[in-house]
Amino acid sequence: MSGLSNNARRMLLAMRTGGQTEFDLTDLLAACDWNDQAHVAGAGLELAEAGLVDIEVEESQTVTLGSEGETAAESGLLEARLWWWLTEQDESLRRIADLNASSFEKSETGPGIGLLKKLGVGLERGAFVIPDDASPITDTIAARTAIIEAIAAASTGSDGDGADAAGLDADLLDHFRGRKGLIFFESSSRRSWTLTRAGRAVPESELTEDVLIGEITPELLQGDDWRTARFKPYDVDLEAPTPPGGRPHPMRSLIERIRSIFLEMGFSEVEGDFVQSAGWNMDALFTPQLHPARSMQDTFYLDEPARIPIDDQSLDTWADVHEHGGDTGSRGWGGKFDREEAQRGLLRTHTTVNTVRHLHENPGVACRVFGIGRVFRQEAIDKSHLPEFHQIEGIIHEPTANLPMLVTTLKTFYAKMGYPDVRVRPAYFPYTEPSLEVEVKWRGEWLELGGAGIFRPEVTEPLGCEWPVCAWGMGLERLAMLVLGLDDIRELYQPDLARLRDMPLL
Ligand code: PHE
Repeated sequence: MSGLSNNARRMLLAMRTGGQTEFDLTDLLAACDWNDQAHVAGAGLELAEAGLVDIEVEESQTVTLGSEGETAAESGLLEARLWWWLTEQDESLRRIADLNASSFEKSETGPGIGLLKKLGVGLERGAFVIPDDASPITDTIAARTAIIEAIAAASTGSDGDGADAAGLDADLLDHFRGRKGLIFFESSSRRSWTLTRAGRAVPESELTEDVLIGEITPELLQGDDWRTARFKPYDVDLEAPTPPGGRPHPMRSLIERIRSIFLEMGFSEVEGDFVQSAGWNMDALFTPQLHPARSMQDTFYLDEPARIPIDDQSLDTWADVHEHGGDTGSRGWGGKFDREEAQRGLLRTHTTVNTVRHLHENPGVACRVFGIGRVFRQEAIDKSHLPEFHQIEGIIHEPTANLPMLVTTLKTFYAKMGYPDVRVRPAYFPYTEPSLEVEVKWRGEWLELGGAGIFRPEVTEPLGCEWPVCAWGMGLERLAMLVLGLDDIRELYQPDLARLRDMPLL
């Protein structure tokens, strides 16, 4: 019996004190010195499951008056008022026309005639006929009135919560139930708890309440008392509400996680502006000036600033390389390099502009840098495209930089993100040779997550780089969709708080 909770012990003990065997809620709250009825319900159920008490539930129905019922209680039921009118009228004035001309409301006369006919009042050529023996009519009206008055009486005063349906005539209640707004029913159940023979037999010594320790404190652990103490069991399966607290947006958390992975792999972070010139965004990357990616349909060109001046030295070297390959051994793209085109302002279309500018500023310094930034492209929004998205960019610039190093770095990154299956496939970018597409296996399928390669000499030599440069640029949103298990890219940025709250922690 020592398995009983403290509350159950207290309740059983209280029920055995004094002569009473059957208890209701109020009795038990008082006997146990509780003010929360949940204690009685919980302890009672525990005792019932152990066979120590019986619980009896008594269902009851309470009747109260509706708005029509209240009117009836005040000024009489419609049939009663009609009956008074009818019996007071001179016999020659008991016609429907007279009723219509009386002080009864229009809404009352129609249903009223129906009520009278059902009670036994006749209707002949538009006139009401009272039967010779009117006592069944007056008896019915009296009985109906009595019920309405009884309900009214039970509904007023301090504990006037309605009349017990069991004490009223069931047929009459049924009759009123069919009429609009007269009465309402409310069900309630009343519980009582009775000691069983087994409940009486539990030795009193087993009913003392244990002092349970609910909190483990340093003071407790410093002493020796905990050795013999009883601890309150901790139920980890109990339903508990999740407090709605703040949390970072899942994209923020993901960016932080990627950032810490690159930092722990020895990379440092670079940043850059959203607004760039076409020259740094494209020409420095040996992207031909007639390349389709440079068209107005693909790139957001700016009115303000429409032109971003570039130093002559850079323009000269790009012109050289684009027109005939400069000193790189390449033949270039041919044609005439347009210096004005290179100075047009735009929103960067990739973060590769950041790494290229970093190389331009630090050409002789070996580096491993990365950056996570927003890019802009004229894309129609659909489930896999947004006009604004993020790229995870990076380069390795050092004497021994080579293709296996690039592939290993990307594999390591994705493995740390939880995607160990990575493969690369040949691809094409104007600024890398060889060029790769990076794919990650997810739910049995290979998904393309980004591009990579070794920068071409047409890119690195004008920058003055000493060594080979491994480079990559990957889509952050694509990766986020894998991590969060979404199939629509738009879901990432919908301001739906409930959904955001339920997204996994990253
Ligand atoms: N800039 C490319 C893109 O936007 C990705 C890339 C970066 C490819 C670096 C090769 C090297 O898709």
